[in-house]
Amino acid sequence: MPGGATANRPMRALQVSLGDRSYPIVVGAGALERRDLLEPIVAGRSVAIVSNTTVAPLYAGRLRAMLGGAAQVVDVVLPDGEAHKHWQTLNGIFDALLAARFDRNSVLVALGGGVVGDMAGFAAAVYQRGIDFVQVPTTLLAQVDSSVGGKTGINHPLGKNMIGAFHQPRLVLADVACLQSLPQRELIAGLAEVIKHGAIADWAYFDAVADDLPALLAKDTAALERAVARSCEIKADVVAHDEREAGLRAILNFGHTFGHAIEAGMGYGEWLHGEAVGAGMVMATDLSQRLGLLDAADGARIRALVSAAGLPVAAPRWSAERYVELMSVDKKAERGTPKFVLLEALGRACVRRAPDDALRATLAATATG
Ligand code: NAD
Ligand code: GLY
Repeated sequence: MPGGATANRPMRALQVSLGDRSYPIVVGAGALERRDLLEPIVAGRSVAIVSNTTVAPLYAGRLRAMLGGAAQVVDVVLPDGEAHKHWQTLNGIFDALLAARFDRNSVLVALGGGVVGDMAGFAAAVYQRGIDFVQVPTTLLAQVDSSVGGKTGINHPLGKNMIGAFHQPRLVLADVACLQSLPQRELIAGLAEVIKHGAIADWAYFDAVADDLPALLAKDTAALERAVARSCEIKADVVAHDEREAGLRAILNFGHTFGHAIEAGMGYGEWLHGEAVGAGMVMATDLSQRLGLLDAADGARIRALVSAAGLPVAAPRWSAERYVELMSVDKKAERGTPKFVLLEALGRACVRRAPDDALRATLAATATG
């Protein structure tokens, strides 16, 4: 477990450039202990550390020690898991904030993976019409993806992340030392989003991740810092150009149209989000090839890296009708017709509709698990 010894390591600092809502992302072992960055945000204010039953016992004490300048610090501990990412859990956050008399000047600190970050962020977006929040992501997936960019929300039984808001954090502290306690299955799920960033935006990064894969799987600190920093850089750049997903930002959903269908169809929590994205990227890669956008060699490299990372490459064997029904509630769907993020080359993405026959052929070839 990380301790004070890591606090003096050099860290990487990035910026999400959104005018007066710009914020820093600090990446490195010991980032959790950046009292200097937390203090100006929490000084004199009521602060809630929103975490869950797994992460709070591991890291909430150390985080609380960094919040000495706050007027009061309250712990809100959520049940753990995607299956709890719903309205009732969210309401539990509001119950705690209201019971502790939190006002509009209060601050939430999300300490956990993407589930905690999405729910705490959504609570911050709507509590008293919006309060500040800080992201302290503790999974690889949250560090490379969900803590950056301001998408917050919860699931609905009929669709993943269907209820939510854009609400940017004031600060992101990505402490890679926290990943030492992360179960290997969760680490691998996070690698799906790392691979995604290379595939959609930077072929050289894709190659670097392939080279670094053994070190990443072994939780090597330097390799993790490189991946988290580069992924955050790619995501921050996309978000700075298209915060509200009017266009470009949709490319961050490579593998997600299929992936969300898998998550919803299996029941939330059965497949990890990153696992569903892994299989979803293989499906989107297959579709890109069938539409003549991507060449076979690049397609093979994507499938090989997803597989080498230990992610699933075969989706559940459901009918095409079931997939189409599940995908029709995707947020990129227009009047129920899904759109797909596809690849024109390794490192270059586009958004397209797919002809029915190509989609069916992709499902027949990839939904074989
Ligand atoms: P998660 O939040 O469920 O965390 C995975 C598991 O790891 C949980 O059991 C958690 O308690 C545990 N955990 C977290 N940190 C730990 C640590 N340091 N040590 C030990 N255990 C730890 O899952 P996730 O993969 O982080 O996030 C998935 C969620 O993120 C999904 O709901 C997905 O929709 C969302 N997401 C959001 C965005 C966005 O832009 N907002 C982007 C991608 C994914
Ligand atoms: N994970 C997709 C996005 O942040 O836009």
